[in-house]
Amino acid sequence: MKLNIAVLPGDGIGPEIMEQALNVVKAVCQKKGHELTYKYGIVGACAIDQVGNPYPDDTHELCMQSDAVLFGAIGDPKFDNDPKAKVRPEQGLLAMRKKLGLYANIRPVETFASLLHKSPLRRELVEGADFVAIRELTGGIYFGEKGRTDNGNTAFDTCTYTRAEVERILKLGYEFAMKRRKKLTVVDKANVLESSRLWREVAQEMAPQYPEVTTEYMFVDNAAMQIIQWPTNFDVMVTENMFGDILTDEASVITGSMGLLPSASVGIHTSVFEPIHGSYPQAAGKNIANPLATILSAAMMLESAFNLMDEGALIREAVAASMTAQAVTIDIADNKDKALSTSAVGEWIVNYINKK
Ligand code: IPM
Ligand code: MN
Repeated sequence: MKLNIAVLPGDGIGPEIMEQALNVVKAVCQKKGHELTYKYGIVGACAIDQVGNPYPDDTHELCMQSDAVLFGAIGDPKFDNDPKAKVRPEQGLLAMRKKLGLYANIRPVETFASLLHKSPLRRELVEGADFVAIRELTGGIYFGEKGRTDNGNTAFDTCTYTRAEVERILKLGYEFAMKRRKKLTVVDKANVLESSRLWREVAQEMAPQYPEVTTEYMFVDNAAMQIIQWPTNFDVMVTENMFGDILTDEASVITGSMGLLPSASVGIHTSVFEPIHGSYPQAAGKNIANPLATILSAAMMLESAFNLMDEGALIREAVAASMTAQAVTIDIADNKDKALSTSAVGEWIVNYINKK
């Protein structure tokens, strides 16, 4: 098969973790006889520095012409502490999501047996936790009208959703639930927010079309509690943009490290696969960041953009083996003195694949 991908390493640790993920993809393609072509694009702070735009048109064109996009991370602290900065790296990510029509962000939350002791939660609570959070990604307060009035002394951000936006994301939620344990939790704040009441109304209308699926409604504050109190109770969770942003960071601690969680953003045009963590600027250039979330994102890419299930499974097997062998970075190493570097973890995984 021919795979034509766009590679957007981004900022901070992005380039380091991407190099490892790309090496893993190359190894798998070589092993299984696929022809891989890839092109690099710039996004985020590095794109602002080079061309003044965090999501340049060239990068967008590249994404549109590719079968899938592998994305690292974006963000640079030099923009964070300047509330008056006109252009920010994060705008690049938001523009990419909007222009590619990536209305759904899929974040699987799975635990790894060999890492359960790294979770801040008790083993018996997290053992067997396996759910998928589906976050709406191109609507809500992130993209609603925003501004200042009162000479800049009053600020507002608006949360807007249309029925069509809610329907398409709930449909995806139901499709996932049908392929899994047939439980869908719709997370909202319908006791307060009108937009949430629309979500709940649409969900109640759609539920009868999926009689095999149990639809459950949960307020977001309660969901924040239940995710860590009873993570094994969830199967598929679907929610609006900002609730999803917050809940998925929270969910990442269940697994023991944020450095482990991959994600897929899907929608109208080319899908984007990226780790859920940020650009971790403190570690940039030090060769210490955990590349596993990006490597697992590459596995998701092979499976969901190319339907290469065996190839994805091979990467997952190699990642699990690296954890069992403690061939891991410092964030999840039991013995910090024996932790491997970013590149050494990547090499370990490539070796495993080559030997298979
Ligand atoms: C994420 C990130 C982004 C978001 C930021 C960088 C804009 O936190 O992908 O979860 O809030 O969506
Ligand atoms: Mn986030």
